[in-house]
Amino acid sequence: MSRLLFLSAAAALLSTVTALPTPPNRFSGRGQIWVLNSTDLLDALPSDRIGCLDAHGALTLNHCAVFTQLDQAPHTLSSRIGSCGFRDENMPTNKDSYYGRDSHAWACQPDDAAVRSPPDENYYTLNGLPYPFICNGNINCIYDIKTVPSREDDGAPVWQYYWGSEEMQVAPGHLRTMWLWVPVASPNAAEDESD
Ligand SMILES: *[C@@H]1O[C@H](CO)[C@@H](O)[C@H](O)[C@H]1NC(C)=O
Repeated sequence: MSRLLFLSAAAALLSTVTALPTPPNRFSGRGQIWVLNSTDLLDALPSDRIGCLDAHGALTLNHCAVFTQLDQAPHTLSSRIGSCGFRDENMPTNKDSYYGRDSHAWACQPDDAAVRSPPDENYYTLNGLPYPFICNGNINCIYDIKTVPSREDDGAPVWQYYWGSEEMQVAPGHLRTMWLWVPVASPNAAEDESD
């Protein structure tokens, strides 16, 4: 039920934004993924950044990896390590979350590893948004974090955001965030390889 309500809210949102010009910096090619402290697809800004994703798929303060978006189906994301997704059962679960307690943190895996993103784990942005915020699956555009990076150290997990009538927001102490695609122009652009 709450899922349906969310979808109709998303549909209403889409109908209000279709009049905006198509952003020049659309979601394609190579880019960094910045994590923003916002849940507002219309008003979030790059300056809401609290960190970025590293090549393992973890949230860090500044180890911004360069990801590649597959422009055609299955629209996956990968880093220099491999394909990224939420299906790696070796990654920590979001155990504080009522609905997300069995979900695993995002991770990039070597493409020959046993665990891969299945082809249905697609990533896309919504047309008409002021910035290319990254959504996946069934209009999942919000991501749940527990640890806000405050200094350069090991990466923190990022989970899908789940909610429902028993828990209408994230678990206490967690934060809802969005992912911003920041295109990287040159194919040889420097990447922080120190992670
Ligand atoms: C996130 O944004 C909210 C609302 O603006 C603010 O109260 C909170 O301090 C921010 N948290 C972080 C970690 O930036």
